[in-house]
Amino acid sequence: MNLAGYDISDRIDLPPKIDYGIGVVGCGGIVNYAHLPAYRAAGFRVLACYDRNPAAAERTARDHDISRVVASLDELLADEAIQIVDIAISPWDQFTVAQCAVAAGKHLLCQKPLSDDYAKAVALVDAARAAGVKLAVNQQMRWDAGIRVSKQLLEQGALGEVADARIEVSIRTPWHMWPWMAESDRLEVMYHSIHYLDSVRALFGDPSRVAAFHARWPGQPETGETRTLTLLEYPGDLRVVVDVNHHNWSDDAYARFRWLGTDGIVRGTIGLLYDYPTGRVDTLEFQPKAEPLRWHAADLATRWIPDAFVGPMASLMRSIQMGGEPLTSGADNLGTLRTVAAAYRSATEGRSVALDEIAAG
Ligand SMILES: NC(=O)c1ccc[n+]([C@@H]2O[C@H](COP(=O)([O-])OP(=O)(O)OC[C@H]3O[C@@H](n4cnc5c(N)ncnc54)[C@H](O)[C@@H]3O)[C@@H](O)[C@H]2O)c1
Repeated sequence: MNLAGYDISDRIDLPPKIDYGIGVVGCGGIVNYAHLPAYRAAGFRVLACYDRNPAAAERTARDHDISRVVASLDELLADEAIQIVDIAISPWDQFTVAQCAVAAGKHLLCQKPLSDDYAKAVALVDAARAAGVKLAVNQQMRWDAGIRVSKQLLEQGALGEVADARIEVSIRTPWHMWPWMAESDRLEVMYHSIHYLDSVRALFGDPSRVAAFHARWPGQPETGETRTLTLLEYPGDLRVVVDVNHHNWSDDAYARFRWLGTDGIVRGTIGLLYDYPTGRVDTLEFQPKAEPLRWHAADLATRWIPDAFVGPMASLMRSIQMGGEPLTSGADNLGTLRTVAAAYRSATEGRSVALDEIAAG
């Protein structure tokens, strides 16, 4: 597709081989409304599912035509036909399950956050490397249309040097969909803005310093922060603002991004957030500096949920068969987790924090 002379596409390409046996661990919300619909559309082969709540596993198997429900993690890991373990459980449980999958020689796709404890994420990445298995993280926003096409425009030089980048989200979030998240001390950045921070890293690389301000909404039922301002400083002139409020009760909710470069500007909306989890397709418009006042609109189709969930799994499969690392590998994800950790340290200590300050242990 052509956008003002630039080549763009939000279609997710599949690797040559996609018939790996997939075993799903965790049959909750996101698996049912995102992973499995996306995998079915892509033609991926889910062989079995497991949940510590057997009723959830039975229901998921029935709703998504999965032929086998297993009674334990051990049973799933013992199945030689399963080469990829797809984990979508609470983050504090993910570490043990992922360690077992690595020990069983399975490749794995973990949910974000890879861990709520940076040292444990490092340990998992090291364990996967030592075992020679691939570990990818489900940071699927990188395949969401707006982010994907932004990346293509940046790579083709359409924006020149970006100096001012912003993600501004002011919505009302149904935290009741995840009661355990609503009770978390660390809420917004750990579970939501982590997507933006990962996407910003995908577009612009690692920041050098992070400054963050966290707040609550008067009377909010959630335990952790629900309003955050994260400022990312880069070595050159680039500064990034991620500004999020989950308690906008009004009817003027918005979720938008904007990258202002020396040669062009991209502006767009994050469609999912206009009615989570149904949402709508993103919008993206591009204005080259040479054509002031003219916005070129991209024709987009790939939604953050469920379509983009094909991306991390396809990338994991590609890395298994062709070598290299998945785009959202565990090792890469450590950069996102360092950014998250720096944001929390900054908000707590009232100072900007260098990414280098975040280390395992
Ligand atoms: N990538 C995204 O956009 C996205 C969106 C939502 C949630 N998530 C992540 O996905 C994960 C799951 O979220 P959810 O909304 O589906 O939660 P959920 O509470 O709806 O479902 C979790 C399921 O995992 C099961 N479970 C928990 N621990 C288990 C264990 N040790 N073994 C087997 N089963 C176990 C529970 O019984 C439950 O059925 C979380 O880490 C969350 O951060 C990611």
